[in-house]
Amino acid sequence: MAYDFAAMLQTIKDKQWSLADIDWDAPGAETVTDELRAKMAPFMADLVWIEHVGARGFASLAKKAPTPEIHEIYRYFHAEEQKHANAELALMKRWGMLDADGAMPEPNINVKMAIKVLDDYGDSLPLSGLATLIPLLECALDGALVKFLLDSVDDPVCHEVFRHINSDESRHIAVDFQVLDLIGSGPRHRLLIETVGNLKPQVIIGLIIVLVPLVNKMRDNIVAMGLSEKKLFNAVKRFGTIGSRGANTWRVPAYQVLKALAKMVVNRKHPYHRYLADPLVRLTNRIPAKWLGKPQAWTEEVTHEPVAS
Ligand SMILES: [Fe+2]
Ligand SMILES: [Fe+2]
Repeated sequence: MAYDFAAMLQTIKDKQWSLADIDWDAPGAETVTDELRAKMAPFMADLVWIEHVGARGFASLAKKAPTPEIHEIYRYFHAEEQKHANAELALMKRWGMLDADGAMPEPNINVKMAIKVLDDYGDSLPLSGLATLIPLLECALDGALVKFLLDSVDDPVCHEVFRHINSDESRHIAVDFQVLDLIGSGPRHRLLIETVGNLKPQVIIGLIIVLVPLVNKMRDNIVAMGLSEKKLFNAVKRFGTIGSRGANTWRVPAYQVLKALAKMVVNRKHPYHRYLADPLVRLTNRIPAKWLGKPQAWTEEVTHEPVAS
């Protein structure tokens, strides 16, 4: 199937929005009660940082994009993920979730590790691996978590912000899977050589330690917010459902591996949770945050200021 990436790029350009388009002082902030604020503040902080994980992923993807148009699309997506982070931070400010000095909230340890691994290894991952990992993260977290928010919050400004974000995300997911299908249409031996040749053991171990507890940690957070883990699992399931629509996607080795992982994630009875994912959440919770060092330079681009971008 031939995809029209030029038309997609034009749509992306046409749909650009900015934080300055939103009236951050409009009524509705009072709908966030003290109880809701306390419950949601850590979730929002994680969400802001997950957007940054997405931004970092697209920055790496842009460097490996198979065509100039896809390169340009990824550059837009990189900026859009940063915009999502900033919009969510502006919502946190609106709801009184930030310190007096507007300081950036700390991400949980699993998100911190994801940022670190992407920073250290993101650029060395093969295109097919990264192009598979990003849609899984987008299905499971980036796109899904924002939908949970809308179930919990009545604030009309929040709903307006997420109309924009969800519209962006629908294009992210569409392009993610179109590129995956495009990669799958290449010669199979090249895919295998690219995958095996580039995957160093430390990268595989890094990904397991990061990715596996990241999803389960978010599940714990969602359950703590009183939401059903089923919704998260349904979001993860979309990875296999959308992937199966591409004629060539199944030929990408990384896709097969991550699809198998997604299948274990959505089956709560699978030993994967008892023996790997949940223990890894507990283990990583004990890692002192300072071991991971200072946040990397690109995380300094986070701001709740409604700058036009
Ligand atoms: Fe996003
Ligand atoms: Fe996204």
